[in-house]
Amino acid sequence: MQVSAPAPSIHAAPFVFDDGAAYELMMGRWSTRVAQPFLDWLALPHGLDWLDDGCGDGSFTDVLVSRQHPARVVGVDPSQAQLAYARRRPGLAQVRFLVGDAQALPLASACMDAAVMALVLFFVPDPAQGVRELARVTRPGGTVAAYHWDVAGGGFPLQAIADALRAEGHPSQGPPSAWASSERASVELWRGAGLADVQTCRIEVSRRFGSFEEFWRTARGSPRVRDLLATAAPEQLHVLQARVRERLGVEGDGPVSVRARANAVKGTKPA
Ligand SMILES: C[S@@+](CC[C@H](N)C(=O)[O-])C[C@H]1O[C@@H](n2cnc3c(N)ncnc32)[C@H](O)[C@@H]1O
Repeated sequence: MQVSAPAPSIHAAPFVFDDGAAYELMMGRWSTRVAQPFLDWLALPHGLDWLDDGCGDGSFTDVLVSRQHPARVVGVDPSQAQLAYARRRPGLAQVRFLVGDAQALPLASACMDAAVMALVLFFVPDPAQGVRELARVTRPGGTVAAYHWDVAGGGFPLQAIADALRAEGHPSQGPPSAWASSERASVELWRGAGLADVQTCRIEVSRRFGSFEEFWRTARGSPRVRDLLATAAPEQLHVLQARVRERLGVEGDGPVSVRARANAVKGTKPA
């Protein structure tokens, strides 16, 4: 493994999203914008068996099911709240949702044609173990793929808020394995898990909010941002919002267009 990563701890507590509806507004709607070009890029046939690892509230799963017409889909996530939201989606009645951790998947070896992670790898305490698990459950000849915000390269959709918090002296609210989101790290992780024909692609997306207030509200879907904002004094909030407005180039409560960039990676399990 050549990626310079901090010593991982497989036992670290998962980064838990505890409100599926709030997650959907904050991030699920971003994820679906990446999901479509990602699936186009994978170019896999209909009728396969898929694992959606870190499926969360089912936002990627929904696009997967409607676009790929899979034979079978299993979604795994450690968050009961996210899975409860996913199970309520009308299009996902046939999906089997399991509570589990990407580092020790509750699945047999070689049982899937395609195993994917959508916006998850940077939350996994030991990303190399997470990718090895994706490879383990994939059949020979199958595909292992992921997309993640280019956090290190400034591609995170809530970057303006993260920057403003840092500028105001709040400790980093970033995911534990942000380093894994770069293209280089992704390639090394995929090769390190024994995958072949490893390729990457950049996916740029944007989202328009009707007002600054709408953008600000959705950010509260992140438990860490929500908890921090809940304890901030009104004057601190005012300063933070001013900094975020400045970074986004928006005045008052006008509409906001936000851009984001994801790195996608795919590889094939050798026969
Ligand atoms: C940003 S959300 C992505 C959800 C969904 N895949 C999507 O595209 O919107 C990250 C998800 O990773 C899950 N997660 C965090 N740690 C995990 C782990 N160790 N193994 C599997 N999933 C994990 C979280 O519960 C959360 O639902």
